[in-house]
Amino acid sequence: MLNGSPVVPFQPLHMQPDVSGRVLVLDSGVGGLSVQREIKRALPDAGLLYLADRAAFPYGDWEADALRDHIASLVSSVSDAWQPSAVVVACNTASTLVLQRLRKFLDVPVVGTVPAIKPAAQKTKSGVFAVLATPGTVKRDYTQDLIIDFAPEHHIALVGATGLAALAEDKLAGRAVDLDRLRHEIAPCFVEKSGKRTDCVVLGCTHYPFLQKEMEQVAPWPVTWIDPAPAIARRLTDVLKRERVAVGCEDLFFVTG
Ligand code: DGL
Repeated sequence: MLNGSPVVPFQPLHMQPDVSGRVLVLDSGVGGLSVQREIKRALPDAGLLYLADRAAFPYGDWEADALRDHIASLVSSVSDAWQPSAVVVACNTASTLVLQRLRKFLDVPVVGTVPAIKPAAQKTKSGVFAVLATPGTVKRDYTQDLIIDFAPEHHIALVGATGLAALAEDKLAGRAVDLDRLRHEIAPCFVEKSGKRTDCVVLGCTHYPFLQKEMEQVAPWPVTWIDPAPAIARRLTDVLKRERVAVGCEDLFFVTG
């Protein structure tokens, strides 16, 4: 997963900082690793500081104001200690809430992960697609605005899945994925509308790419699954180049809780 780069195992947040301008990559758990692996592909020499906020998992169940405050304070304290050269919010549930706030107080580039509604609108042939995300992400104004701006004419199934992120955590912890639960969670993505049916599903939570194989197994018909992670890695590469930010040192992994 880490393309052979040196890895220091998960470390307590209070360890003595060795500050060397890493890219901070944040998620509620393992989901952000789907973004991290693409960043490593695009920028093999970049040093990353991965923060899995497990104590607060799942973000998808949090009330919006509380989650915004929580993430702002977490990023602020990690940034004070570790001085990252850029921040990637590798979580849709957090990005659709907190990007603006982070950009106000951080003086480094902040890259977010938001549901890939624009790419899906460009890719769909039937005009019917689904956004599979957490209950929090599907409720956000940010998500509604993306639909208004980029897919106003499309038929979109907005599906807030309650247990998928936990299934991805299970899988990465080596436990079997409950396929019946998975089938049940993704079923509302598959709709038929005036003889046209869902042909693309946006993976609107960074945990979900880890379940794509299993989703293909239980899906009622084949669709294109859209994972925004490669686009986020490209965006980070562009931003670092534009801002002339140098990153390069060993990766560190932190976990809360
Ligand atoms: N990985 C996160 C996302 O992209 C959220 C999972 C959760 O904590 O609910 O939305």
